[in-house]
Amino acid sequence: MAAMKKLVVGNWKMHGSRSVNAELLQGLLAADLSTSAPRADVAVCPPFVYLADAVAALQGGAIAVGSQDVSVQAQGAFTGEVAGPMLRELGVRYTIVGHSERRTYHAESDQLVADKARAALSHGLVPIVCVGETLAEREADQTEAVVGRQLQAVIDTLGADLVRVVVAYEPVWAIGTGKTASPEQAQAVHAFLRARLTAAQADAARVPLLYGGSVKPDNAAELFSQADIDGGLIGGASLKAADFAAIARAA
Ligand code: 13P
Repeated sequence: MAAMKKLVVGNWKMHGSRSVNAELLQGLLAADLSTSAPRADVAVCPPFVYLADAVAALQGGAIAVGSQDVSVQAQGAFTGEVAGPMLRELGVRYTIVGHSERRTYHAESDQLVADKARAALSHGLVPIVCVGETLAEREADQTEAVVGRQLQAVIDTLGADLVRVVVAYEPVWAIGTGKTASPEQAQAVHAFLRARLTAAQADAARVPLLYGGSVKPDNAAELFSQADIDGGLIGGASLKAADFAAIARAA
């Protein structure tokens, strides 16, 4: 069951500068996505230090702002962390949790990711929970076992709040490599995730399922046309206004 409106989210990762971002955001505003991409809800996720700039630039428009991470804590002696209430106060709507780069480089466990999703929800943010297998795991036929385990921590931790999350399937081997999962490969994993969510809670059938991993203007439409692909989480192509706008229009 695909959601009516697609969700297209740009993950800028650790890219940008104030001037580069200003140009990118101006380009997105000029693309007038609420008119040219009426079937897509759109958000961008800049690095923390640029969130306030992005919120100000996009004020009153149709493009929402998300962060790339959030602390499990609400405040306190946690050097280097950024808390949900701080993000909420700025006007941030979404937060990515459990991106594979954080799982890999910051040793984030399935449980920590689930706890971050719970913290985000408790502070009024919508968590975009990332799951995905490595190439070795796919080749060992472990894809469903891995994404199932990653999702299960979220199911067990959130209980009835499960319906309020967004899930992004990002096969690690497709991130930044130019190797996209084929629409059939992506759809198969999305159908598996949908079934797991629905088995946990009937209402969770409507949790938006985004695909991420080398989504580009020329492959977005076919990916988005799959039954269980409700949008995309876009890395590299979200750094170019024309490409990101074209992906939103492909919805
Ligand atoms: P790319 O689109 O650059 O492959 O990145 C995907 C991603 O990791 C988005 O979170």
